[in-house]
Amino acid sequence: MYTVTKLEEYSPAALDRAVADLLAALEAEAADLHTESDWKTFRDRWMARKNGILTQVNDIWLKAAPREAKRDVGERVNRLGRRVAEKVTLVELRLKNPIVFARTLELLDITPSAMQTDWETRDRIIEKAKLEAESAGRLSSERLDITLPGIQRPIGVKHPVLRVMDEIVAVFKAMGYSVGEGPEVETDYYNFESLNFPPNHPARDTQDTLFIAGQDRKPARDRLMLRTHTSPVQIRTMEVQPPPVRIVIPGKVHRNDPLDATHSPVFHQVEGLAVDTNITFCDLKGTLDHAMKALFGSSVKTRFYPSFFPFTEPSADMQVSCIFCGGKGCRKCKFSGWIELLGCGMVDPNVFEFVKQYGYDSSKISGFAFGMGVDRLALLKYEVEGIQMFFEGDVRFLEQFG
Ligand code: PHE
Repeated sequence: MYTVTKLEEYSPAALDRAVADLLAALEAEAADLHTESDWKTFRDRWMARKNGILTQVNDIWLKAAPREAKRDVGERVNRLGRRVAEKVTLVELRLKNPIVFARTLELLDITPSAMQTDWETRDRIIEKAKLEAESAGRLSSERLDITLPGIQRPIGVKHPVLRVMDEIVAVFKAMGYSVGEGPEVETDYYNFESLNFPPNHPARDTQDTLFIAGQDRKPARDRLMLRTHTSPVQIRTMEVQPPPVRIVIPGKVHRNDPLDATHSPVFHQVEGLAVDTNITFCDLKGTLDHAMKALFGSSVKTRFYPSFFPFTEPSADMQVSCIFCGGKGCRKCKFSGWIELLGCGMVDPNVFEFVKQYGYDSSKISGFAFGMGVDRLALLKYEVEGIQMFFEGDVRFLEQFG
């Protein structure tokens, strides 16, 4: 093992020999380091301020040198210090970061034992190798394979129910109807009372719905519920607009109907209301007959037969000749040749009573109203298996309407 011994001679040749011995020892020891703790021992042996080899060189060679040799010795000791420090750095690199180490050697273009470049350049080279290795690491971690297929962001389409709803609305718009909307959470007053459903009337039973809890202290007419039909918007419209009125109101409604292929607790309606002087049942029939022909084609027929709604009198259900078989009878129309599409009737004078103060005097004006289910129609039109498909949000289903 190398130890620093006193210099006997101070000629340049003798000094160079001493330096060469020391560097040979440095190389030999450096080549035999394999672990980080090897490296630490090596570093301390050579560089420890207290009694490290460099300190010894300083004490034993330089301080002990006669005055005239100080310069020659000092120069060499100085160089040795840098060589040792660099060796310690390189070994550390070799053990801890082989990539940077390899690149450093490449840049130096020499083996570690034969470095000739000047010191500043060497320091820069090590720095450069480090930077290069860092950016190489970043490049590989941020690598982007541009041959991979991209992320596909499918373009949305209009929901089939909304599509049918818009078609219906468009037909009435073309006849000069305006389009309105109303709240889905409605009061008892608008949903029932003002539409001539007296409290506890059995007609309410067919329109059971979800009631908002905790309202027992409110008067019955103010209690909130999810509206069971779009008809409350008839009253809301007449409250803000004097006659004449021609309006269609598309919207979502809720009823306590158990889910099956054709029933759902959530569904959609398009409401219609026309109020003016001299509106008759003929206007109702003519308007709806025209609308059905516009929707399904001119060969479609309509028929009306008596029904009951508290807010219309007389009331009717309207059927269209089966749009699939033309009336011959098929599975869709249950072999009857007809499909029921809506409820309608002449606005009951009792309803006008509720909006009397807004200019609706049943001795001067009359009107008709209708309400058609949208989902049922969409089911038939798109041959959908079950109404629940409309609400489940299954992309595989919705995609087909793209
Ligand atoms: N609101 C009724 C229902 O939901 C339909 C209807 C609307 C009937 C307007 C007559 C007039 O069944």
